[in-house]
Amino acid sequence: MSKRVLTTESGAPVADNQNSASAGVGGPLLLQDQHLLEKLARFNRERIPERVVHARGSGAYGHFTVTDDVSDLTSAAFLNTVGKRTELFTRFSTVADNLGGADAVRDPRGFAVKFYTEEGNYDLVGNNTPVFFIKDPLKFPDFIHSQKRDPFTGKQEPDNVWDFWAHAPEATHQVTWLMGDRGIPASYRHMNGYGSHTYQWTNAAGDAFFVKYHFKTNQGIRSLSAEQGQELAGKDANSHQTDLLQAIERGVHPSWTLYVQVMPAAEADGYRFNPFDLTKVWPHADYPLRRVGRLVLDRNPDNVFAEVEQAAFSPNNFVPGIGPSPDKMLQGRLFAYADAHRYRLGVNHTQLAVNAPRATTADNYGRDGLMAANAQPRGEKNYEPNSYGGPAETGTPLSAPLAVHGHTGTHEAPAHSKDDHFFQAGELYRLMSEEERARLVANIAGGLSQVSREDVIEKNLAHFHAADPEYGKRVEAAVQALREG
Ligand code: HEM
Repeated sequence: MSKRVLTTESGAPVADNQNSASAGVGGPLLLQDQHLLEKLARFNRERIPERVVHARGSGAYGHFTVTDDVSDLTSAAFLNTVGKRTELFTRFSTVADNLGGADAVRDPRGFAVKFYTEEGNYDLVGNNTPVFFIKDPLKFPDFIHSQKRDPFTGKQEPDNVWDFWAHAPEATHQVTWLMGDRGIPASYRHMNGYGSHTYQWTNAAGDAFFVKYHFKTNQGIRSLSAEQGQELAGKDANSHQTDLLQAIERGVHPSWTLYVQVMPAAEADGYRFNPFDLTKVWPHADYPLRRVGRLVLDRNPDNVFAEVEQAAFSPNNFVPGIGPSPDKMLQGRLFAYADAHRYRLGVNHTQLAVNAPRATTADNYGRDGLMAANAQPRGEKNYEPNSYGGPAETGTPLSAPLAVHGHTGTHEAPAHSKDDHFFQAGELYRLMSEEERARLVANIAGGLSQVSREDVIEKNLAHFHAADPEYGKRVEAAVQALREG
């Protein structure tokens, strides 16, 4: 095999990669040492802004295979035939900590999937929790500020975390979920994924359905106790990354079964919960799971920076047959992600291999910008409409139109007959076994008892009391015992 020659970025051979060029043997270095200058300057530019949330994560490639006919619900081509296989990329993540944070922490996990379909990339950017802390995107920056590092102390602060929740009664359901047994997954392989929001599916006849996605892990749910999590986070900060990487390298390919809950569009207005409220689930007794297919992860990325750090998932990447619902949080997210990508990766991030469509090609009049790599062929027009056979619109909307009424203004989400902030949190508590309740109460008290202000503690206790009197009483007693102890 011929020996490979080390070169500069412009391809010229490098004579010495061990010693910088100097003025004489012991003298200062020379500005003409292109290799040294380029190497140091290049190194200074290796980092890009980390994701403002979900900074820490792991990715893997795989495929999705349709196992059940859902063509009565959606016209999406990648779902239209049993047995059809679509390549995909997933990224799992923690939410609150920065890039160097530990994996085995109590935090929701991101569960983002990019399906490379023949009608364009479809991104489903979900979490391992079926609900979320808030229901209006205007609150998201404040919420995240309260959960990430404090600007003065430089670390996560129980005072901030619980102060936000004290002012957000709608978070009680998700807080109950997070403080429960599933709050620290043992690995990314051992958790479910949820689209969390309600989305819209439209079939070929134009009928609209509202759907919620559930990816159920085929590895079984496994979680860590608070003590196990603390120990593992200290021993191997990268425990989730290690687990996923090694499993796939060993040929143990993790898989999830995708189900959807389906609500005919006409039932949305009369449902007892607002079906577009992200702090609520749809009980399965109302809308049972319908199986769709199987997601398998079978290949690790070759380069973490190129393929995982630069991966760009956006909830507004839809394909025909799938669209948004009026969920306000989802609507906010339809803007936020691509905007983050333009800032973090640049306007041409969709040309990067991990983000570009694979089963089709992007064909439009977007041009130029920083780092434009895809040059259009000679003579291609850069305006539309044109008389030269350039790409043209289809005239077919991706999903069914929604009727709207009322006045513009800042409105609270409409409340349906059973909607309040606490009912479903209480339902979740009452579903738990005695052991689960005891661990839940201990986890909440462990955090809440560290809060310095009594009024913040009291406001939070009121939320647990409102969810279920027993739940509130037990948390109150546990907090009191820890504060006195
Ligand atoms: C209005 C509420 C929200 C806003 C404004 C928001 C915004 C963001 C932003 C700006 C990023 C970083 C994107 C990047 O730099 O690539 C991000 C990442 C992420 N968000 Fe959200 N988010 C919201 C709510 C949610 C919810 C409800 C979920 C789950 C159901 C979610 C799941 C994720 C995931 C999984 C990632 C990481 C994607 C990846 O792996 O690259 N977010 N979010």
